[in-house]
Amino acid sequence: MEEHERLTVGRVAELSGASVRMLHHYDRIGLVRPSARTSAGYRAYSAGDVERLREVLAFRRLGFGLREIADLVDDPAADTAARLRRLRGLLVEQRDRTAAMVAAIDRELEGRAMGIRTTPEEQLKVLGARLYERIGLDYPATRRTEPRIAARIQQALGDARTVLNVGAGTGSYEPADREVIAVEPSAVMRAQRPAGAAPCVAANAERLPFPDDAFDAAMAVSTVHHWPDPIAGLREMRRVARRVVVFTYDADTPGWLDRFWLTRDYLPEFGALLADRPSLADMARAIGGRAEPVPVPWDCADGFFEAHWRRPEAYLDERVRRAVSVWTRVGARAERRAVDGLRADLDSGRWAERNRELAALDSAELGLRLLVG
Ligand SMILES: C[S@@+](CC[C@H](N)C(=O)[O-])C[C@H]1O[C@@H](n2cnc3c(N)ncnc32)[C@H](O)[C@@H]1O
Repeated sequence: MEEHERLTVGRVAELSGASVRMLHHYDRIGLVRPSARTSAGYRAYSAGDVERLREVLAFRRLGFGLREIADLVDDPAADTAARLRRLRGLLVEQRDRTAAMVAAIDRELEGRAMGIRTTPEEQLKVLGARLYERIGLDYPATRRTEPRIAARIQQALGDARTVLNVGAGTGSYEPADREVIAVEPSAVMRAQRPAGAAPCVAANAERLPFPDDAFDAAMAVSTVHHWPDPIAGLREMRRVARRVVVFTYDADTPGWLDRFWLTRDYLPEFGALLADRPSLADMARAIGGRAEPVPVPWDCADGFFEAHWRRPEAYLDERVRRAVSVWTRVGARAERRAVDGLRADLDSGRWAERNRELAALDSAELGLRLLVG
């Protein structure tokens, strides 16, 4: 082992922000032992020890107890990459949960300013907030099947007779002419599925409760970016179905934030939300598929983030924004700044001047993609 790969306790504490006392404690209880020695004979952490310590510290930060952590890092069923994916998933979940809590508190503060008191029940709900439990009730107001995108999905499903719809939400895009089973983790979303919609199972994409090859096809629409571990979820879809169809977007092409005036001029924070998502190529690889562009029609019926690219006034409407998780995840301050800026530019004619070429387009290439594998 190279000398520079061995780190003393003091150096590890300095780099990681953990205290020397804590590191000694982990050593004493056998959780992470510095197994190497420096050339001067001091005990030191090898590269492998550091890898283990990093996991321990991250799980600690997530609030796990030391005994649970010992089980997690010693899990013989998981290799390093699998353990990192699990850790990453937990961190993403925590981030989204925090965003949902911040949004709930903002709303409570606004209510209080107007003299509206929250009930004890509502106060407790803030702590348990999960993104779609929080925003799910606003979803159906503007989110529905866009027939031209539905046609592309239908075509990609080919002759599949049985279809699994993962992250199904309220049931948009579920083909009526095939046998469909839906998977949706949010109780709020499941409760809003219309009468007669396909049966729906409460589960996550990352662990689908079905045997191998149980379906002819599996589809996932506008949902993969919410999964704590997209690659694991896509592999699960591949496992349970012969064909996989995923509607998502490409955030890899350099300068992609400039593709859409909303992210370019008003909400660059969108970039940070996607910074740690797997690349489109990695997602395509996980299902063994290819990516096809999906242009967004100017009058798109499904109110997803990019849908109103030629109808900018729509973004001033609170209902439109609440049905798109991006606006909750960027936080109230960024949302307010973006909306105020857009309103001012619409009033002054600056938006129209800057985006003159859009009026002539019937559809726009905004990076939306259909992955078919
Ligand atoms: C934007 S909605 C899309 C719903 C529906 N597919 C549609 O097109 O209207 C995203 C959905 O993904 C679900 N979701 C979040 N995390 C998930 C996970 N790990 N596995 C499966 N679905 C998940 C959410 O609960 C939410 O209903």
